[in-house]
Amino acid sequence: MKEKLEALKIEALAKLQDVSNPQELNDLRVKYLGKKGELTEVLRGMGGLSAEERPIIGQVANLVRSAIEEIVEAKQEAFVQQETLNRLQAEKVDVTLPGRRLAQGGIHPLSRVVQEIEDIFIGMGYRVAEGPEVETDYYNFEALNLPKNHPARDMQDSFYLTDDLLMRTQTSPVQVRTMQAMKGEAPVKIICPGKVFRRDDDDATHSFQFHQIEGLVIGRDIRMSDLKGTLQQFVQEMFGANTDIRLRPSFFPFTEPSVEVDVSCFKCGGNGCRLCKQTGWLEILGAGMVHPNVLEMGGYDPAEYSGFAFGMGVERIAMLKYGIDDIRHFYSNDMSFVKQFRGV
Ligand code: DAH
Repeated sequence: MKEKLEALKIEALAKLQDVSNPQELNDLRVKYLGKKGELTEVLRGMGGLSAEERPIIGQVANLVRSAIEEIVEAKQEAFVQQETLNRLQAEKVDVTLPGRRLAQGGIHPLSRVVQEIEDIFIGMGYRVAEGPEVETDYYNFEALNLPKNHPARDMQDSFYLTDDLLMRTQTSPVQVRTMQAMKGEAPVKIICPGKVFRRDDDDATHSFQFHQIEGLVIGRDIRMSDLKGTLQQFVQEMFGANTDIRLRPSFFPFTEPSVEVDVSCFKCGGNGCRLCKQTGWLEILGAGMVHPNVLEMGGYDPAEYSGFAFGMGVERIAMLKYGIDDIRHFYSNDMSFVKQFRGV
């Protein structure tokens, strides 16, 4: 029996020595020390021993038990320590790593140009007005002296939502909405920045959606010279004190007379370069004296009041000003493009 106990001890210690995980350790503990374990099994045979042998074997059995217990405990302790170590390793934080810097945002070049233009006109006493992007046929065309079937409607291919509703093709309808809201009061001095939509195929200079800024002034004795002076002042603030303007006769249904306005090329000073295609001039806006029909539809008597209006494309001005060669850059959300305007 003593030999059996010794053999059990040797076997148990050897197996426990090689144990590689807590589960295995527990299995061995049950196998040797458990109620139905092998040690208990051997001790069950003690009943057949003599009274002298019993305490001796009992002592040996106790020694075997404590030897096994000892190594089980030591192994258990080692596993706990290992687990703590593993966890510390996995959750290790390197406090010397540099922090993640927040990217600093910038104002989009289109917003920047709109803000700049707004500031200039606000400085001249204008108010900023807004209107809906989904517009009725009446405000977008008819009230601007473009009756149904008027050939000039073809100049602006439109996105119609219903027979009567469309995405506005221009910011000009805000002229009429503002006049109606003013209920015949004067003077009216507004600019209106906003999105407009046209059924154009996108390319380097066209986009189905772009931005315009509209201007409208109504009062008594407003003349063409007021329009010219206002625009002169505007371009000098926008493009530099030496900038000149030139008016060319043109046609818009809502103005009479109508003009196309060029600024002297701010890149070459008018000498001719690639930007101005060697002409020395850049076309930047349309303008004119408000047509009597438009005044009337807006609730102003053309015999008493007159006014001027102008409209410009924000993308075109931003492209000229910053030397941007493709309108699609504005909408691509390409960070390397937008970042260039951070400190401008
Ligand atoms: N609405 C015109 C367009 O989209 C631009 C324009 C021209 C607006 C002359 C005006 C104006 O107010 O007087 O092409």
